[in-house]
Amino acid sequence: MTAPPGPALPDPRPTADKDARLVQQMFDRVAPRYDVANTVFSLGQDRHWRRVAARAAAPRPGDLVLDVASGTGMLAGELRAAGARVVAVDFSLAMLATGARRDRARGRAGEGVLWCTGDGLRLPFADASADVLTIAFGLRNLPDAAGGLAEFRRVVRPGGRLVVLEFSQPTWPLFGEIYRRYLVGAIPRAAQVLTSDPAAYRYLADSILEWPDQQGLGEVMAAAGWAHVQWQSLSGGIVALHRATHP
Ligand SMILES: C[S@@+](CC[C@H](N)C(=O)[O-])C[C@H]1O[C@@H](n2cnc3c(N)ncnc32)[C@H](O)[C@@H]1O
Repeated sequence: MTAPPGPALPDPRPTADKDARLVQQMFDRVAPRYDVANTVFSLGQDRHWRRVAARAAAPRPGDLVLDVASGTGMLAGELRAAGARVVAVDFSLAMLATGARRDRARGRAGEGVLWCTGDGLRLPFADASADVLTIAFGLRNLPDAAGGLAEFRRVVRPGGRLVVLEFSQPTWPLFGEIYRRYLVGAIPRAAQVLTSDPAAYRYLADSILEWPDQQGLGEVMAAAGWAHVQWQSLSGGIVALHRATHP
């Protein structure tokens, strides 16, 4: 699918519930159990989604990939496996530290992934310094998604690529209804048991329901100046993978 120019863009302006400081504190709190909760709530699909994203990023050996909102670096690890030099950027020190500890425990510290604190809206990198920029389940969390996409365009070199993995809208209406009930009902209840932070998972449900669909996000990316915007739905549209090229 590609993004033709469309009339109605979703509104990616900052919202009160995406106050950056609150989002940062929330991820600091959930960091120790984030990976386990992710795998449970996605019914084991999350690793598959990230592998598809890493394949789409298609880094050549030695390419510099910025994985923004990298969290515990699960996608960064997939990109490293493909031979890229990866900088995992996130503003939650606890999320990065969890990933760095996992690397150390596996004897992979310092191998191919550099951990870097930074704000996705003001990346600590020079213009045109990256070959590829990836962001998995992070764009929705930025207080200003359109501003983030413009910032990504600044740091990626001309001809470089952007890959966005994000929750999206189920493409089959009946499945969509079942999924919505799972999001607003089952996930916060299960989070009470699994994470002792159900508020974080209510935020998750709300932010997913408010997020644009596949076409809508494609239009926001095109409006931010990205070229050749394409997307594919994964797992019936629960998640979408968008790619684009720096013009
Ligand atoms: C849902 S997690 C995704 C983590 C990881 N990419 C993954 O696939 O599991 C969202 C991440 O975005 C980070 N984040 C949110 N807003 C950010 C911002 N403005 N700058 C940098 N990181 C941000 C959070 O700290 C969190 O680690």
